[in-house]
Amino acid sequence: MKHLLSAGDLDRAQAVTILDTAAAMAATQERQIKKLPTLRGRTVVNLFFEDSTRTRISFETAAKRLSADVINFSAKGSSVSKGESLKDTAQTLQAMGADAVVIRHHASGAPHRLAHAGWTAGAVVNAGDGTHQHPTQALLDAYTLRRHLVGLRGGTDPVGHDLAGLHVAIVGDVLHSRVARSNVQLLHTLGARVTLVAPPTLVPVGVESWTADVSYHLDDVLDQGPDAVMMLRVQRERMGGGGFFPSPWEYTRGYGLDARRLARLPEHAIVMHPGPMNRGLEISADAADADRSVVVEQVANGVAVRMAVLYLVLAGQEQPTVDGQIGASA
Ligand code: CP
Repeated sequence: MKHLLSAGDLDRAQAVTILDTAAAMAATQERQIKKLPTLRGRTVVNLFFEDSTRTRISFETAAKRLSADVINFSAKGSSVSKGESLKDTAQTLQAMGADAVVIRHHASGAPHRLAHAGWTAGAVVNAGDGTHQHPTQALLDAYTLRRHLVGLRGGTDPVGHDLAGLHVAIVGDVLHSRVARSNVQLLHTLGARVTLVAPPTLVPVGVESWTADVSYHLDDVLDQGPDAVMMLRVQRERMGGGGFFPSPWEYTRGYGLDARRLARLPEHAIVMHPGPMNRGLEISADAADADRSVVVEQVANGVAVRMAVLYLVLAGQEQPTVDGQIGASA
């Protein structure tokens, strides 16, 4: 795997390899000394043109746990504010010897451009581009689902590596959500069934071609007994003048997860949210903090998943061990 640009680029074997590698990484993080020498001498640049808490910090933590040198670049306070282009920024970082660039950008397709325009020789990992893709979020969500629910529906994989038969409801602002797009693709690849639930105004044009069912009625979908409910953030910053729903109160009434709706779920069902949460809008405080909520665990799993991704894009072809030096086996 040279780059990770889209969840749709992963076939089942590649996705399972990443999830299995993440499990191996997570096991190393139980130890007293968490740092591995695996990426010693490699440089990872975190190139963030859009705000982030979880993704930026977990990529930084992941790279450091693998002993890589890390350069954190935020567009705010950089020469981007003087008008410097993505190309010139990328070439500047390349001159500093980046082996991998982790990029978040407000423009859909920016990571693809970076990977294929020859502006960097390193691996490119998409940390979220516009409304397009957020593949490592989908991977950490799949990892979290696997830890809680695999085998529940008697999937076809005897060692429980896929999510076959699971039903995941993805609820809310699908229109603006790169998390939803990546999750629909990856969950389908891993054998799960997805239902998207949103008001008609927040369902993307062309959704018929997605590998998911669509419903406008949250209570009906909850009554189907989904194994997981993934709430999406209402992305007000992408809504311009608004008009996507009559009022926050009416959105919450139709599509918010609260204690009353939690009670409709099967006992085993988990509640997910990629964060940051709009408490009181798409999710109530008691749903966000419920025992069945795995929101904080999703963040923790993000470190192991991002360690796995960095390891596989930077060291995968050199057959190192998780514990070992890159090239030790060469
Ligand atoms: N889930 C997610 O991408 O969160 P951040 O925007 O905080 O990185």
